[in-house]
Amino acid sequence: DWSMNEFLSECTRDIKAMVGDAHVIGAVSGGVDSTVAAVLLNHAIGHQFHAILVDNGVLRKDEASEVISRLRDRCHVDLDVVDASELFLGKLQGVTEPEQKRKIIGNTFIEVFEQEAKAFSAKFLLQGTLYPDVIESLSHKGPSATIKTHHNVGGLPDRMDLKLIEPLRFLFKDEVRALGLVLGIERESVFRHPFPGPGLAIRILGEITPERLRKLREADAIYIEELRRNNLYDKIAQAFAALLPVKAVGVMGDMRTYEEIITLRAVETTDFMTADWFEFPHDVMKRISTRIVNEVRGVNRVLLDVTSKPPGTVEYL
Ligand code: XMP
Repeated sequence: DWSMNEFLSECTRDIKAMVGDAHVIGAVSGGVDSTVAAVLLNHAIGHQFHAILVDNGVLRKDEASEVISRLRDRCHVDLDVVDASELFLGKLQGVTEPEQKRKIIGNTFIEVFEQEAKAFSAKFLLQGTLYPDVIESLSHKGPSATIKTHHNVGGLPDRMDLKLIEPLRFLFKDEVRALGLVLGIERESVFRHPFPGPGLAIRILGEITPERLRKLREADAIYIEELRRNNLYDKIAQAFAALLPVKAVGVMGDMRTYEEIITLRAVETTDFMTADWFEFPHDVMKRISTRIVNEVRGVNRVLLDVTSKPPGTVEYL
């Protein structure tokens, strides 16, 4: 890809000129944007860049270890991992209100990241802001104009007195993916579905407990594994499982059960402003449902969401 190679060398030159011999820190989440931004910085300035992964306790199954093998082992990025899951889950205990969950995660993230960042005495903060995010932040003036607060690391640069580096701010998502491939990141990571900053906290309706997190993690992992195995993953813009806040009766062998309900979401969209639900082949649905109910202890029913956006949103909270 000629234009991306060109972009990469220009970008590398600019970053080097801007940073000099200072240090740069950046949060990584496992998402495409922060991954590409981190590998780009590592390409430009090597170990003057430090990536920080905050495990907020609401990551997907194996997510932290996948980020470690992708960034540290395969891309040689200097990666610092903070396991703050107990802190986050403690604060989330008993909280059911969606915006409250988002606020707790956003604020706790800032607290943990700020503390961790001290060790690096960095002058710059990397953010994987894309062009659509730039446009969106210009077009509305506050949380009242948003339907849900989408904060990833908003508020950080002000508090920490760091200069921002946003090398992806003129790129669209497909260009970020092309850049990721040019940087040598494997296809599977570059074409991952988006995952929200507040993580599984907004996919667990009702209370977040370790036991409910386990059920959702296992169900979601089975769902995504089957989508990949059946070559459907790349046809879908975003797919995930969520856990409903109600229980239902079922039967297992000759035992009556009273257990939790998983709902499956899969949407087709280009911009996430509107979305259509994805039509699954029936045999795949059947296999996913059977596997979840058989393999995930404490789940006895699987529902499929057939709601478009609008009126539904992609996420449930
Ligand atoms: P909705 O539910 O608003 O989702 O239709 C549209 C897209 O945004 C993602 N999303 C979030 N991303 N923090 C994020 O970083 C959030 O709080 C958040 N809420 C929704 C969602 O996953 C989908 O891709």
